[in-house]
Amino acid sequence: SRSVKLAVIRGDGIGPEVVAEAVKVLDAVVAGSELSIEKTEFSLGAARYLETGDVLTDTDLESIASHDAILLGAIGGVPGDPRLRDANIERGLLLKLRFSLDHYVNLRPTKVYPGVPSPLANAGNVDFVVVREGTEGPYVGNGGAIRVGTRAEVANEVSVNTAYGVERVVRHAFEIATQRRNKLTLVHKINVLTFAGKLWQRIVTEVAAEYPQVAVDYLHVDAATIFLVTDPARFDVIVTDNLFGDILTDLAGAISGGIGLAASANINPDGTFPSMFEPVHGSAPDIAGKQIADPTAAILSTALLLEHLGAPELAHRVVRAVDADIAGRSGSARTTAEVGDAIAALVTAAQ
Ligand code: NAD
Ligand code: IPM
Ligand code: MN
Repeated sequence: SRSVKLAVIRGDGIGPEVVAEAVKVLDAVVAGSELSIEKTEFSLGAARYLETGDVLTDTDLESIASHDAILLGAIGGVPGDPRLRDANIERGLLLKLRFSLDHYVNLRPTKVYPGVPSPLANAGNVDFVVVREGTEGPYVGNGGAIRVGTRAEVANEVSVNTAYGVERVVRHAFEIATQRRNKLTLVHKINVLTFAGKLWQRIVTEVAAEYPQVAVDYLHVDAATIFLVTDPARFDVIVTDNLFGDILTDLAGAISGGIGLAASANINPDGTFPSMFEPVHGSAPDIAGKQIADPTAAILSTALLLEHLGAPELAHRVVRAVDADIAGRSGSARTTAEVGDAIAALVTAAQ
């Protein structure tokens, strides 16, 4: 038997509600397996900040880094809450984790589940994965503002793209393509963001030469949003920068039948640091505390976790249970906990 140390960050809003169900399913699937999971809870997020003034202490970061993996719900308060104006929970907590733990591959798979009403009339056979760069781009915070608060204010946000950073994520995306349908689409905005665009394009071209079996194409990000709606089945692997990847994956969640279905993995492929598994969605303050959030994204994030931990058969069991649960969804309302109970029961029955 093998023991894995899992850091659990439930977070804010619906975070704790969906993580409760993810943990329920995770416990059910590892029960009786050779894997045991030892959890440590970290109380972090907007609520913790409002209580103690802490966003992410060095002690918490060190402790989290000593785990084998991280499961995160969602963090963040109500957008616009004046008490959070100067806190920057997203940057100081979520991005600090992704950057400090070198999560350079942000993996966001999408498929349209049979039985789930997609907003697209004829979605087709949708099954693609967005490989979002996770440590660079406009997210690095390399900007600044001058004459703040005056009519002469200038606020700059700088997108940082390094050859090292682009190459490692592009290589990873090609590797994933070879395990899928051998198709890779670079999404960028090379017609306007010419410096970063040239770098991304050159590296994709160079790496493509090592993967002759992979068909490569390119789309500007604006056009990519058209095809995600009109012909999402054309995509297999999309590789893109941090900000484009953020935007495209909310859209991907919506076309797949709801953002409550979209799972993600922030991976450090080198294994130097623990990888982090979380739904694509946020803390959803508009529905928090009502037990109406869909916990499927958080549950599917545990499948990505199990895959990463080298337990693919347990991961498949979670995915099959989710598939079965989704196929049986009638549209009648269930609570967050009822969805988790149903999927946990399916996982147990499949043992
Ligand atoms: P959001 O994803 O929280 O919500 C957008 C919409 O999707 C809302 O209408 C919400 O009710 C709905 N939704 C989200 N998850 C759902 C689920 N599981 N089931 C059903 N409906 C769901 O995005 P937002 O409103 O822009 O952000 C809210 C807060 O979350 C902000 O503070 C933001 O910074 C933060 N955020 C955190 C993360 C994260 O922790 N990884 C991700 C995104 C946003
Ligand atoms: C996500 C979120 C985060 C991001 C925010 C909360 C920093 O939107 O995980 O998609 O932009 O990456
Ligand atoms: Mn997002």
